[in-house]
Amino acid sequence: MDSFVIEGQTALCGEIVISGSKNASLPLMAAALLTNEEVILEDIPDLRDIRNMAGLLRELGCEVDVDGSGVMRLRVVDEGDSHARYEIVRTMRASICVLGPLLAKRGIAKVSMPGGCAIGERPVDLHLRGMEALGGEIDLEAGDITARCGGLCGKTIFLGGPFGSTVLGTANVMCAGVLADGFTVIESAACEPEIVELANLLNLMGGCVRGAGTPRVVIEGVKELHGARYRVMPDRIEAGTYAIAAAITRSDLTLRNCPVDCLLSLEDRLRAAGVGMVCHGDEPGMRSRATVEVCGSVVDVIRPIQVTTQPYPGYPTDLQAQLMAMLCFADGISVVTEKIYPERFLHVAELSRMGAHLYRQGPTVVVEGGRRLVGAPVMASDLRASAGLVLAGLAASGTTTVNRVYHLDRGYEKMEEKLNAVGAKICRVDEGDSG
Ligand code: EPU
Repeated sequence: MDSFVIEGQTALCGEIVISGSKNASLPLMAAALLTNEEVILEDIPDLRDIRNMAGLLRELGCEVDVDGSGVMRLRVVDEGDSHARYEIVRTMRASICVLGPLLAKRGIAKVSMPGGCAIGERPVDLHLRGMEALGGEIDLEAGDITARCGGLCGKTIFLGGPFGSTVLGTANVMCAGVLADGFTVIESAACEPEIVELANLLNLMGGCVRGAGTPRVVIEGVKELHGARYRVMPDRIEAGTYAIAAAITRSDLTLRNCPVDCLLSLEDRLRAAGVGMVCHGDEPGMRSRATVEVCGSVVDVIRPIQVTTQPYPGYPTDLQAQLMAMLCFADGISVVTEKIYPERFLHVAELSRMGAHLYRQGPTVVVEGGRRLVGAPVMASDLRASAGLVLAGLAASGTTTVNRVYHLDRGYEKMEEKLNAVGAKICRVDEGDSG
């Protein structure tokens, strides 16, 4: 397994082009199961999770081809096997998003029940509630969720849970509702931009989905869907991670293809900390793929702030670890509260190993800033926690070794190449060589 060896405290300068969004791509790929015609997706990032999803779709009878420029062609050729096996689901929880498409199109879906994961319990009860409400019969057998139906029927469904709505649950119900008989109304739907992306694709395929991006999504079922071509939005979490990289290293970075309108909560928190973001070409319509300058070099002190993760448009849980790394360098005491995954703090112990002063109480971490972070060997078995450690390593003195960057490869396309191109010193080594 690979590690990153990071020489800290090098100034960054230059441009980073943001890749297509992982979390938008995964449900879009699964939606290709809803038709026998070809679905073409552009700007698909080259990531481990994407390759896993392509592998799963192939097992489900879908031909998947990707060319070197991120254009993915998907076409179902065989509907015989509708089983998402444990071996795949355990490597990628997002496999659950084939449940709705398979049930709606084939009348049967068998998906291995995802287990717990490094960032918390992550139940799928809301997904199942949605499938049942539309007429699916659910059984749990030998660790598999089996859903069957002889045709789905539209219904009004409430998808709120103790931590807000569910992104992939909303995606599943949308995919099921699009082929159901009559109207499906999702109340307390997830409002994330990735849900709007899915609605856009479903509508291009001949579906009728309205209200995506709001808590009330209305779907009028259609008999069948056809092929479509769609360009995936840029990755808001990748963009946010590099914006924080500029702030933590007090550098100026330009982010191209940046979905700045999806990052207003980050912009707000960075501004509160004293870090400015300037959007060029600010006209409406251009802000989804904008050029954004993050001005870290002029920051005298990073101010301490409070931040609470929330469902979109609130501050994203997927950028919590990265911001916490930055707040270790702030001039005073910050408070970080995690409201989506209250256990998502794998980075806390690792940052502490680098000299950070962090005090956790339940879902809240108090960050005592102003400490010098010193490079150390660290590891976190979560994608975003690992990203937070890379950022900490960029700003710490000395050498930081981030072990098991396997997790980063799931969600960041060519992370070390992109950062090295703007001045970072990151070396990918085989773990055996890293000491
Ligand atoms: N929840 C339930 N019941 C359910 C489903 C979810 O209680 O049936 C809870 C979860 O435990 C959590 C909250 O609801 O507390 C929100 O979970 P959600 O279902 O929205 O998460 P998800 O759809 O499984 C997606 C992203 C995650 C991201 C979350 C929250 C993908 C592939 N994954 O997961 O991304 O953190 O939404 O925004 O889109 C990542 O990219 O690193 C990542 C973990």
